[in-house]
Amino acid sequence: MSDIQITTLSNGPLQVKGPIDLLDPTGKPFDLGGKTAIYLCRCGASKNRPFCDGAHKTAGFQADEKAG
Ligand code: FES
Repeated sequence: MSDIQITTLSNGPLQVKGPIDLLDPTGKPFDLGGKTAIYLCRCGASKNRPFCDGAHKTAGFQADEKAG
C-alpha cells in the first residue's frame, strides 16, 4: 500500500490520509495545519469546499462504492 490512502466513506466524503499537499487551481497550497487526514467533499453541498463540512448528511447524499 502507498503512503497515501484515499477511502470513499459510505454516503460521505473522501478521506485522504498520509503526507498530503492539497493545491488550489493556481498551485497555492491549502493550509492543512499539519493534519495527516483530511475529508474532501464529493456531494457538492459543503460551504467549505473542497473540504467536507457535514452537509452531505442533510443533502441526502448517497454513495456506497465497493471495490471490485
Ligand atoms: S461530502 Fe460532506 S459535505 Fe459533501
